[in-house]
Amino acid sequence: MRLIVAKDYTHLSRIAADKVENQVLLKPDSRIGTVTGASPAGMYLELVRRCQEEGLDFSEVSTVNTDEYAGLSGDHPQSYRYYLDHHFLEPCRIRRERTEVPRGDAKDLEEECRRYETFYRKNPVDLQILGIGHSGHIGFNEPEHYFPEETHMVSLAPETIAANAEYFDDPEQMPAKALTVGIGTLMQAKSILLLVSGKSKAEIVYRFLCGNITPEVPATVLRLHQNVTAVLDEDALSVVRQRAPERLRQLLG
Ligand code: PGA
Repeated sequence: MRLIVAKDYTHLSRIAADKVENQVLLKPDSRIGTVTGASPAGMYLELVRRCQEEGLDFSEVSTVNTDEYAGLSGDHPQSYRYYLDHHFLEPCRIRRERTEVPRGDAKDLEEECRRYETFYRKNPVDLQILGIGHSGHIGFNEPEHYFPEETHMVSLAPETIAANAEYFDDPEQMPAKALTVGIGTLMQAKSILLLVSGKSKAEIVYRFLCGNITPEVPATVLRLHQNVTAVLDEDALSVVRQRAPERLRQLLG
């Protein structure tokens, strides 16, 4: 794993946008695995700016999103399809037919999980963007006793519900279940860009970087992937810096 330390969130977002831009310059028809949430928001903003002001060209790019709330249709303002359409895909003129998000309003959600898994396996991801949840989740793979391999339905962890409910006008409306690609699916990506920012993530970052590799902290599995770039800001690294300076020096090479 390559670790990059950003001084703050703005810096992290710029580094992340550089990585995506380089990927697209090297391989214009890249497939990018997307996520939503606070971690990549600044990166999307910067990518949209580069598309609109600097001519960054996403016309051959395709995307596939890791997760979606169960029960929300793509026109629900809190759905991940809606977020991506408005904050990344449409402003960067990525054609709709080149984009995939699980259908949260599918009649048969188990069947939708199977469809999505087949799609992901047939269409390899060149660059998978990820964040880490407060629970240690990646995608919506919450702490478990095993690493779930394939796309599946999950019950969201209390920390995840607490963190995400604030995006809903009525927090009670936040779905407690979601569809997510599995850990096995995510680990197939050719490269992974992990973004972590803020003091509220510092404790889970410590467990991610310094603890055992365990499904109880799903993100730890990323330490086994061959091509991960993790961009963390100083706030996110603060507990590691304090409790395990030696480990940090080792990680930074
Ligand atoms: P966040 O979520 O970026 O909103 O902190 C991260 C995640 O849930 O993976």
